[in-house]
Amino acid sequence: MIATVRRARRLDGDITVPGDKSISHRALILASIAAGESHVRGLSNGADVRSTAGCMRALGVEIDDSVIRGVGLHGLRAPADALDCGNSGTTMRLLAGLLSAQRFASELRGDESLTTRPMDRVVTPLREMGARASWPPLEVGGQVPLHGIEYRPSVPSAQVKSALLLAGLYAEGPTSVLEPLSTRNHTELMLAAMGAGVRVDGRLVQIGPADRLSPLDIEIPGDLSGAVFWLVVSGLVHGSHVRIRKVGVNPTRSAVIDLLRACGLAIAITAEGSVGGEPVGDLDAGPAGALRPLSVSGDMAAEMIDELPVLAVLASQLPGTSRITGAAELRVKESDRIAAMAEGLAAMGADITALDDGWVINGPRPLEGARVHSHRDHRIAMALAVAGLLADGTTEIEDADCVEISYPGFFDQLESLC
Ligand code: S3P
Repeated sequence: MIATVRRARRLDGDITVPGDKSISHRALILASIAAGESHVRGLSNGADVRSTAGCMRALGVEIDDSVIRGVGLHGLRAPADALDCGNSGTTMRLLAGLLSAQRFASELRGDESLTTRPMDRVVTPLREMGARASWPPLEVGGQVPLHGIEYRPSVPSAQVKSALLLAGLYAEGPTSVLEPLSTRNHTELMLAAMGAGVRVDGRLVQIGPADRLSPLDIEIPGDLSGAVFWLVVSGLVHGSHVRIRKVGVNPTRSAVIDLLRACGLAIAITAEGSVGGEPVGDLDAGPAGALRPLSVSGDMAAEMIDELPVLAVLASQLPGTSRITGAAELRVKESDRIAAMAEGLAAMGADITALDDGWVINGPRPLEGARVHSHRDHRIAMALAVAGLLADGTTEIEDADCVEISYPGFFDQLESLC
């Protein structure tokens, strides 16, 4: 599908965004091995989360909308075929951890993009725990019990940490992960809420073997990474006002809000509360004040890794030189996001230079509509759609249907807001 986007005159609306993708994956996986029936409302309807649901069903778990009938820690059954993780790195890496600790062997497959993404980052530590694990293709499990280790990943990754915590539920002795910096902590929060023995001490997360996980009864907050597209457009298009309800504002995810405010965007968080241990709030985005260039490096880049493509679009509209560095991980996401955004934004008239680990962007530059490629990467398609809303003329985005991965209905919502 080719999506056509034109300049937004004003953004106005009171909306919700899909359920948080990271929390949705974890809820499906953990509820599947809980002792009894879980109720999880507001799961993401994106294809990635459907991939996780499909894998859990193939492992013998009944999932009926918001009801997940947990089979207990030892109730999963061997899948008849290779498990299809689709485009979802989170599905593949988290399930590698869980399935490496089962008595049966599993093979995990994915689409063309996922097949080329690095899996050694989970295979290496799982082997250290005594698991059978190999890649490519990714095969895990069939050799138990595992034993706990203390692992220091070289790259900060919530997926790697979560894989080891899931394996650690089944291992002898404690399993610890000492991260180079604290990544999103949804797995730890959910495991603690389910009664697992999780201990967090700064950047160290430790889990002990579990006998039982209590079922969940939660509502998934809206996905901040999806909300940020609208926050950026509202801040840049004069006269806009958008309210986004019940968005997850977990501090391990919300650094991007501080960054947007530092650039001059006006974002208020109201109606703050918490669902299932996860902080939520309504986000109000109104007219921006004086705009300033942005600077993202090192730890900050890791904290807002999923938002960097749309921050590159924002930077093209900010005065002065903006720099985003420390983001080499973008090269191994669903596409090479550094190359994809440099290509798309340059075609639209931005002054952008790709670095090995980010971009230098001089602004503000008027954007012109162009035909651009999503590289079948949902976040690239949506970031370029944001650029299209800020550009003269018509922007055509190729393979835009990939927004289904995390945000089905993205383009309908775009129409309704403009
Ligand atoms: C995710 C962790 C991040 C993020 C991805 C979702 C998760 O990946 O980019 O979109 O749900 O744990 P890494 O763990 O590779 O940094």
